[in-house]
Amino acid sequence: MENIQDHTKELEGKVALVTGGTKGIGKAIADRLAIAGAKVIVTARNHPGQTESDHHFIAADLSGPEGVAKVAEEIAELFGGVDILINNMGANTFPGGGFSTLTDEHWNQALQINLLSSVRLDRALLPQMLAQKSGVIIHISSTSGMLPIWESTMAYSSAKAALNAYSKTLSGEVANQGVRVITVSPGLNKTQAMATFLEELSQNAGITVEEMTQNLMARLGGVPLGRMAEPEETAELVYFLVSPKASYITGANYIIDGGNLPVV
Ligand SMILES: NC(=O)c1ccc[n+]([C@@H]2O[C@H](COP(=O)([O-])OP(=O)(O)OC[C@H]3O[C@@H](n4cnc5c(N)ncnc54)[C@H](OP(=O)(O)O)[C@@H]3O)[C@@H](O)[C@H]2O)c1
Repeated sequence: MENIQDHTKELEGKVALVTGGTKGIGKAIADRLAIAGAKVIVTARNHPGQTESDHHFIAADLSGPEGVAKVAEEIAELFGGVDILINNMGANTFPGGGFSTLTDEHWNQALQINLLSSVRLDRALLPQMLAQKSGVIIHISSTSGMLPIWESTMAYSSAKAALNAYSKTLSGEVANQGVRVITVSPGLNKTQAMATFLEELSQNAGITVEEMTQNLMARLGGVPLGRMAEPEETAELVYFLVSPKASYITGANYIIDGGNLPVV
């Protein structure tokens, strides 16, 4: 994607939190919102090291309530709250191989990371948005929530499907109080997490990563655009959805998957 030139500064004066904003899709979103003028806060377990951005970094593990509480407290103290909340952090780090390989602990982790982290963070940060009668919350889901693959995404897909339902219900609760809640479901994105996932699958199958990539796209029914997304392409959609241009959009699930999902 070409370097983005944005002189509109539509998000000037807004404070945005991007969970998992140090890598992959989250980093692309954080950088895009900053280009539009937002003050951006990012969270992750590890400091990203030296970067060109001046995002405010908060170290926290969001797979449990303590990490969420830490993020909420620091934001309340330093910023008073946020105008834009991007619940991006999520992961499919659970073993493939179907139902018999997944223990209670895997299922619990899948739900903590991909559903409850968002539920907790929304619960902590929504009251201030409701008090100011404005705000936007994005839940980064996945097309896996609608197109599960038993061999590799059983727990992850189930948790993302639950996130989709939660996001829709929350949007209905707060729409008439000035807060928009939207789900974004990306397909395959070229991130480190995806590279690791493909590496593991290819090792297990005894084939190359390139062959595995083609296999995965075929297993998903094919990607008409013929490639994975750059995280910046996904970030551009998220930027539009949080901008004032999207003021009539709430409660929807936006799919950005190169044409992969075979449904209308
Ligand atoms: N990549 C894809 O193809 C794809 C497709 C569909 C949906 N998605 C969704 O898009 C979102 C981002 O995925 P990605 O591929 O961009 O991921 P990624 O490149 O692995 O980045 C994940 C980010 O989250 C942080 N993180 C991971 N576990 C964490 C934890 N327990 N607590 C706090 N922070 C944590 C990571 O930093 P630390 O490791 O330092 O904590 C990093 O900043 C996820 O919700 C994913 O499900 C991705």
